[in-house]
Amino acid sequence: MTLPLTLAADETVAASAPRPWRDEQRYWRGLTEATADREPPVAVIGLEALRHNAQSMLRRAGGTPIRVASKSIRVRAVQDAVLALPGYAGVLAYTLPEALWLAETVDDVVVGYPTVDRSAIRALAADERAASRVTLMIDSVAHLDLIDQAVAPGARPRIRVAIELDAAFTAPGLGRLGVWRSPIATVADATALAREVVARRGFALVGMMAYESQIAGVGNRPRGGLVRGVGQGRVIDWMQSRSAAELAERRGAVVAAVRRIAELEFVNGGGTGSLESTSADPSVTEIAAGSGLFGGHLFDTYSRFTPAPAAAFALPVVRKPRRDMATLLGGGWIASGPPAPDRLPEVVWPKATRMQPREMAGEVQTPLSGRAQLTAR
Ligand SMILES: Cc1ncc(COP(=O)(O)O)c(C=O)c1O
Repeated sequence: MTLPLTLAADETVAASAPRPWRDEQRYWRGLTEATADREPPVAVIGLEALRHNAQSMLRRAGGTPIRVASKSIRVRAVQDAVLALPGYAGVLAYTLPEALWLAETVDDVVVGYPTVDRSAIRALAADERAASRVTLMIDSVAHLDLIDQAVAPGARPRIRVAIELDAAFTAPGLGRLGVWRSPIATVADATALAREVVARRGFALVGMMAYESQIAGVGNRPRGGLVRGVGQGRVIDWMQSRSAAELAERRGAVVAAVRRIAELEFVNGGGTGSLESTSADPSVTEIAAGSGLFGGHLFDTYSRFTPAPAAAFALPVVRKPRRDMATLLGGGWIASGPPAPDRLPEVVWPKATRMQPREMAGEVQTPLSGRAQLTAR
């Protein structure tokens, strides 16, 4: 399937492009009507909203190319359509089997997480074309050993690898902020691993990655009212600007040192929520981002941008435990991170319906309340 996704030729056209999501009632009703003849569950993508988000992300990235984070999209047609837009290049995949599948048509796929899938490594090594297109993420010698055990260095093409650098930030009084990923945090750590890679047969060190989740994945305008919300927002603003400065210095030093050991094709950083600060770091050559294309409600708590709601799903109403309630079958997905309300699906349509605080979105059912007119189908 080919999606008709194009970018507006210039900013003036972009600014005057239709924004149907601004009229919430009409937007959601329109999508509901457009899918009325489908059996739910139904997922929809609003192309105008997707186009708006794709363009706004490019603007925020200020000329730094965006690598599409497939784990945030998981719809091949959307990934392909976005990749065809100027400014987007390559995919950040999340597993090696997925990367092998994508590499049939995409010539630059970085697996963003280390793999221990030996059969997929054997499949990669058996396919020269895939081996020239797919890059594996490593953060230790054990990752190299595992690849060697799957296929001996003399019996395979060179495996492209990238080193992941820890991008977390330790703030005074707040402790460590950011996800636990790589143990490689310093120039000494990174150069020791880089030397090991280049000294071994059967590997090519082609890139580095450092994902600053404490900036990209944390909204700086949390809900919680004037006292809690505003107070927390100030702390988050402070933390994120300190973290960006710390990382720019550390990432810059690490990248410069590793570049003396190997010729790096790319240095990947950031995510949707950090396009501005990551693109300001001169050591970064590309930014991985995906979730901003769909513009989930997680981003309602970010002050730097307002994506359009480009993706939604609808579930069938299967029973009515009370006149003003309706129970949906299933409940949707939960986003990564502490499972707080900002990670849950949000009911946007019909308006003024809400989940039950003691039940919320469940794997088999989600009761909603709030409107007498909630109807069963
Ligand atoms: C390595 C890496 N880069 C970037 C991202 C950002 O993705 P998104 O823009 O979809 O939030 C993620 C998300 O988890 C990630 O794991």
